[in-house]
Amino acid sequence: MQPTDPHFEALLIYLKESRGFDFMGYKRSSLMRRVNRRMGQVGAATFQDYTDYLQVHPDEFAALFNTVLINVTAFFRDTDAWSYLSKEVLEPLLAAKPDDSPIRVWSAGCASGEEAYTLAIVLAELLGLEAFKERVKIYATDIDEEQLNEARQATYGDRELEAVPPDLAERYFEASNGRFAFRKDLRRSVIFGRNDLVRDAPISRIDLLACRNTLMYFNAETQATILGRLHFALRDEGVLFLGKAEMLLSHTTLFSPVDLKRRIFRRVPRPYARPGLTFTDTPETDNQAITGELDRLRDEAFAASPLAQLTLTSDGQVATTNRQLEKLFGVTSRDIGRPFRDLDLSFRPVELRRYVEQAQLERRVLRVADVDFQRGAEQISLEVQVTPLAGADGSLLGTTIAFQEVTASRRLKYELEQANQQLETAYEELQSTNEELETTNEELQSTVEELETTNEELQSTNEELETMNEELQSTNDELQNINDQLHASGAQLDQANGFLETVLASMEAGVAVVDPDLRVRMWNRRAEDLWGPRSTEVVGQHFLNLDIGLPIERLGPVLRAAMGPDGTGEEVAVEAVNRRGRTINVRVACTPLRRRDGGNRLEGAIIVMEVGSAEPV
Ligand SMILES: C[S@@+](CC[C@H](N)C(=O)[O-])C[C@H]1O[C@@H](n2cnc3c(N)ncnc32)[C@H](O)[C@@H]1O
Repeated sequence: MQPTDPHFEALLIYLKESRGFDFMGYKRSSLMRRVNRRMGQVGAATFQDYTDYLQVHPDEFAALFNTVLINVTAFFRDTDAWSYLSKEVLEPLLAAKPDDSPIRVWSAGCASGEEAYTLAIVLAELLGLEAFKERVKIYATDIDEEQLNEARQATYGDRELEAVPPDLAERYFEASNGRFAFRKDLRRSVIFGRNDLVRDAPISRIDLLACRNTLMYFNAETQATILGRLHFALRDEGVLFLGKAEMLLSHTTLFSPVDLKRRIFRRVPRPYARPGLTFTDTPETDNQAITGELDRLRDEAFAASPLAQLTLTSDGQVATTNRQLEKLFGVTSRDIGRPFRDLDLSFRPVELRRYVEQAQLERRVLRVADVDFQRGAEQISLEVQVTPLAGADGSLLGTTIAFQEVTASRRLKYELEQANQQLETAYEELQSTNEELETTNEELQSTVEELETTNEELQSTNEELETMNEELQSTNDELQNINDQLHASGAQLDQANGFLETVLASMEAGVAVVDPDLRVRMWNRRAEDLWGPRSTEVVGQHFLNLDIGLPIERLGPVLRAAMGPDGTGEEVAVEAVNRRGRTINVRVACTPLRRRDGGNRLEGAIIVMEVGSAEPV
């Protein structure tokens, strides 16, 4: 497969990815010619223009496929080859089979069905109608749905029917609306379905496989792949019927010529495990159509599996591949029939050959975890599972190898571990924070307790203070009362003093009052007038020390006598000098001052100084 023009290759990739039509394996020269023809019809100058055109006009796909997929066909195409096939090949083949055994036929690349109905006519002629209806199943497949729909109609015009010998046309076709329909009763034995020879799994256990004028559109490599699969599809001794222009250039080991000129070959048996490994041995039922559908369903289920998967035969040939496998490793259905050990995949990204051998030997499932694989720019992780497949009798049928991408789960696992670690750290931090908090809490609690105690103390102090306050208040009240009383007494005293002073001041004699120690307590105005010193100068002085005109030395005994325990009063007349220096006669009377309510206690003495009449003052 030589890439020709990168834009053309890009167009092929676009067709494959957008519509599932894989033209990569078709011969480039004729393919390009046909695409160019279609491009001319729609006015696209370059492959890029045409790719853009397809993107904008989805209907164009059908037109392109009609141009690319050449579906020229005819009843009994190459008549001679059909005669030879019938007489020289099918007759002995049918004779060799048990009378009631099923006969499975595959028309691969059947186009509008002429080849499939030709096969039906030939077999019906050989077997008879009843045996045909009972035993024969003709699977007719093509990639082109439009062609298949036409084939299902089984209705043809005059021109097509010209190729059918008249007697056969008479017996096998019924006139219908100016056209000719293949007999309904036989029609049921022909089953049409879509099958892409490049990508899809082959139908199995085939006795006769007609793949005519189809292989020639593929390049050598793709042809080889398809031939490997056709070999796989056939029973031992099954017959392959190719088109006149087709040569088996390679794979001569797979087929041996029966008649090279007519392109009829016989399958060379290979030590495959039973193909039923993948195309199961569903018991034959009356309704073979259902079986065919089920086969396709199983094949499609395998092809569409989200796991990249391949199956090996017991002798290590690639038996099936699927889309994920192609996507991941580029191993395609073209590799079917190749020895697994020849594929890069057998040792990259992991050495799988020994796992396959071990799984087969030990008859147990083996897992290879954490296989790193570079997918484009991306590094991914795979888990590979190698499973031996055993038949009901315990014999080894083959091995499946499944590749599961575990990048996301591995990353998740890693992230989970990280998250767990972070969680643990956070938990430890939380715990220590908790412990700190607990400590702080205890400290706070004890502080609270202390505060409570202080509060209680303060409260009791407060209560005490309140009590003291109350006491003080009452003391205060009492003091206030006393004060009031004192005030009142003071006022009385002031009054009495005032009165006394008035009395003393009004007296014509000088008066001095002394305390028991003879210190002057009172000194009236007349005494001031007589002797000179003012009351303020005298009060507090010792009377006998006063420096006045009185002969004090004479007064001392008198005073003492008057103040003696039995003293009642003494009088003495003395000569004195008044403040003006005049000599005067003074009669001094000393009277003790006793307290009547105090047990006659001596309070002092009253000294009255009266100037005699002979001498004026
Ligand atoms: C020229 S016709 C042959 C019809 C018939 N076999 C015959 O010989 O008269 C080729 C057919 O092969 C079909 N074809 C092309 N590519 C195919 C593919 N990858 N898988 C199956 N059929 C394919 C085309 O759709 C077309 O119908």
